[in-house]
Amino acid sequence: MKLYYFHSANEVPENFPKDTAVVIDVLRATTTIAWALKNGAESVKTFADVEKLKLESLTWPKEKRVLIGERGGKKLDGFDLGNSPLGVTSEFVSGKRIFMSTTNGTKALKKVDRFPNLFTLCLPNRKAISRMLLNVCPDYVCLLGSGWEGSYSLEDSLAAGRLASLLLDIKSINVNIGNDELQASIALWQFWKDDIEGCLRIASHGQRLAEIANHDDDFSCCAELDTLDVVPLQKEQGVLRAFQID
Ligand code: MLT
Repeated sequence: MKLYYFHSANEVPENFPKDTAVVIDVLRATTTIAWALKNGAESVKTFADVEKLKLESLTWPKEKRVLIGERGGKKLDGFDLGNSPLGVTSEFVSGKRIFMSTTNGTKALKKVDRFPNLFTLCLPNRKAISRMLLNVCPDYVCLLGSGWEGSYSLEDSLAAGRLASLLLDIKSINVNIGNDELQASIALWQFWKDDIEGCLRIASHGQRLAEIANHDDDFSCCAELDTLDVVPLQKEQGVLRAFQID
């Protein structure tokens, strides 16, 4: 299994093997997706384009749909929720399809939505994703950060480093690090592993969120480790469902 990290969608080489992709958006899309599915959402359909989301959502019964979206960290007008993982409670999402569009996370998902294996990673479901990768045992894994409008994201790199560190520690499998970006992510994890929330708060997007409003609860939720056993998995293009891994 050869792991690569790319810090945003436009960094993924066109000739990268379409094997397995793991999309990361720690603050906050992939944390929100994992919590929504854990809390019983029927599925999460992601859209890079807000207008396409609005149109398609109208084909879904009103009582069975939830619109989640933000731009620049702020809730989109007319949407039910912004993109806080605290908002997707079971009372709000259970049994419903979530229509989701975020500034960067949903664009990253679109980039790799033709990979046969596509999962989403956050810090709370890191162990579940590592177990999924051990089950699938792919040759090539594209760990794809969402970044911010094409630029590097500290928190997404941290999560990639955490996942790679764990896989490297499993002696029963052969894991190789494919690029310097992932080597740097591993070093980042070694530096910040005892103060994860501190890393999220100094990250540029963490500072952006803190300037918008009090996001203390989001920071602590997004910094949790291995508290979720859910694997968001793409079964049909653009649609993520919960895969419960034992
Ligand atoms: C993103 O897509 O960049 C993030 O999810 C933005 C956010 O939720 O603050």
